[in-house]
Amino acid sequence: MAAPHAAVAGEAGSGDTELSLASSISEDGKRPQFGTRFLTDPRQVFQHNAWDNVEWTEEQEASAKKKVLENCQPLPSEKQEEYENRANEYWNDFYTIHENRFFKDRHWLFTEFPELCPQCSPNNVTHQKVSSTGRCVQDEERAKQGAAVSPINVNFPGATASYRILEVGCGVGNTVFPILKTNNDPELFVYCCDFSSTAVDLVKTNPEYNLGRCFAFVHDLSDVEANYPIPDGTLDVIVLIFVLSALHPIKMQASISRLARLLKPGGVMLLRDYGRYDMAQLRFKKGRCLSDNFYVRGDGTRVYFFTQEELHSMFTEAGLEKVQNLVDRRLQVNRGKQLTMYRVWIQCKYHKPLVPSPETRDGDAEPDCS
Ligand SMILES: C[S@@+](CC[C@H](N)C(=O)[O-])C[C@H]1O[C@@H](n2cnc3c(N)ncnc32)[C@H](O)[C@@H]1O
Repeated sequence: MAAPHAAVAGEAGSGDTELSLASSISEDGKRPQFGTRFLTDPRQVFQHNAWDNVEWTEEQEASAKKKVLENCQPLPSEKQEEYENRANEYWNDFYTIHENRFFKDRHWLFTEFPELCPQCSPNNVTHQKVSSTGRCVQDEERAKQGAAVSPINVNFPGATASYRILEVGCGVGNTVFPILKTNNDPELFVYCCDFSSTAVDLVKTNPEYNLGRCFAFVHDLSDVEANYPIPDGTLDVIVLIFVLSALHPIKMQASISRLARLLKPGGVMLLRDYGRYDMAQLRFKKGRCLSDNFYVRGDGTRVYFFTQEELHSMFTEAGLEKVQNLVDRRLQVNRGKQLTMYRVWIQCKYHKPLVPSPETRDGDAEPDCS
């Protein structure tokens, strides 16, 4: 597994926040370098494109906080409602304009999240009881016997698979397609959803979209009454990359709790998203704030900036247990313009306990792999 505080370049977001992945590629151009370049002498700052695990001074933190407070006079409620009610339309417009040109494949995916391809990892990382192939032992037995995964519901896409990954807010598939390419486990099935039908159409029309291994569908994460095409208790991994931040903060907890029900015991939720005082937050001017740390971009898409504690509280409230919760601070440098940009991202892994806690036990799906 990657070292804690490993830095990751590149991120999702709207046009004002996109960054190049180039700075994470080593000088031999072959593989990404994470978390290895530290700025010890400030005079050297323009010697490289990026510095890892940058410490913030107290003054820097205080100045960021001041800037955020100064720029946050929330917009009137009619505007707020419009952004909420038409959220998927703004993202549809975004994908109509950018199609699949905007977001880049992320080479760090399997370094940071080896759960996306357990058998590719030397340590065979998983959060379930595993066999040597990295699969859940009970599922592997069922697969061998050709048995259905759930006696209750066998009629869903990927029902016979034994390793199931769902990406929520998949956009045009910058995570999904690398998973399908890299993880050759014949028992793998990948689901992906987004509430932008334009994005989902782009996934479905991608030549790499293969219905035998993948199922893309339109779904609003914040609509907790809407059904997923997958029974509860059947997923090994749920991935959220720069998507939770796009939801209204009051809808986040219920959305995470709903998703947690889809996980098998031992299954894991993986998240990477914007951290508090990231450069993108500090760039928002007056007139863009919706509520504390929540903003609307020029194109109508919204973004929230998290603290580690907020995410921890949300995942644990959903009955999940912490595996990882780290803040990734990186200093990116535009050497041409002599600009410094402080990025803050949060990366979390929370798993579903094998034995549910008494509070979450009632109403939980029958465990598939306990
Ligand atoms: C910043 S983009 C990230 C896309 C993708 N995860 C990536 O990293 O390339 C946020 C994505 O979340 C989707 N999204 C926002 N709110 C959503 C919701 N309530 N339900 C489902 N998807 C949502 C958007 O349509 C968009 O594709």
